[in-house]
Amino acid sequence: MSLLDVSQLSVKYESFTALKDVNFSVENGEFLAVLGENGSGKTTLIKAILGLKEPHSGIITWEKGIRLGYLPQHLNVQDRSFPATVKEVILTGALAYQKGFKRPTLAMHQKLDTLLADFSIAHLKHQRIGTLSGGQQQRVLLARTLMSDPDILIMDEPTSALDSSMRSTFYDLLKDLNEGGMTMMLITHDVGSASDVLDRVIYLDQTIIFDGTFADYCENAAISPYIHTHATHTHEVHK
Ligand SMILES: Nc1ncnc2c1ncn2[C@@H]1O[C@H](COP(=O)(O)OP(=O)(O)OP(=O)(O)O)[C@@H](O)[C@H]1O
Ligand SMILES: [Mg+2]
Repeated sequence: MSLLDVSQLSVKYESFTALKDVNFSVENGEFLAVLGENGSGKTTLIKAILGLKEPHSGIITWEKGIRLGYLPQHLNVQDRSFPATVKEVILTGALAYQKGFKRPTLAMHQKLDTLLADFSIAHLKHQRIGTLSGGQQQRVLLARTLMSDPDILIMDEPTSALDSSMRSTFYDLLKDLNEGGMTMMLITHDVGSASDVLDRVIYLDQTIIFDGTFADYCENAAISPYIHTHATHTHEVHK
């Protein structure tokens, strides 16, 4: 059985149709990117499958008992006095799944330290979240999501605030997690850095225009006009 099945999905904002007739499945262990221009419905799709946006029609079926990890787009804590440290923010990612009395275990503290080291943010452990840069905050939020050991990690433009060296470190890390069995689904405008790790690409423009391997995506004539526009976006995002 698939991890996720999406059938005949349509999503509207009032009378505006953001997505229509979307059909796809996600298999266990895949590394999938959702691509498309600004406004093509990528974030809407992710919100719909996570239950954060009610579909207009269609059926979304998750495998039973699955643990979802979600890294949203634009989660910038700008309040510098926001009273939580990096350590606290990351630890609460594990507590969300813990039943009963909520107190971090030794194993959680160890996992926290491993993640801090993996993301090169160990020196920020006791700093307030609002005082970090955008890229540092993004790494903290990813570490927070990983604390709960999700079966699938769903990310909305996770590298948009990362510099180029952190981007490749980031994809290396996702690749390791994926090889360890975690399914990956991410929205990105940064296909260049992700190309080594992607199994599959879904290209959206209100509906699915392309669904196939990354190599086929690059060669597919039907979507070449989109690839061109896409390159322009990548440029904008990198500036
Ligand atoms: N809350 C909302 N109310 C009304 N329209 C919305 C809302 N959220 C999104 N839309 C519209 O739905 C369409 C798809 O938006 P969505 O955020 O899914 O695009 P996206 O592919 O994620 O774009 P980007 O690459 O800029 O993040 C856009 O036309 C957008 O204006
Ligand atoms: Mg979006």
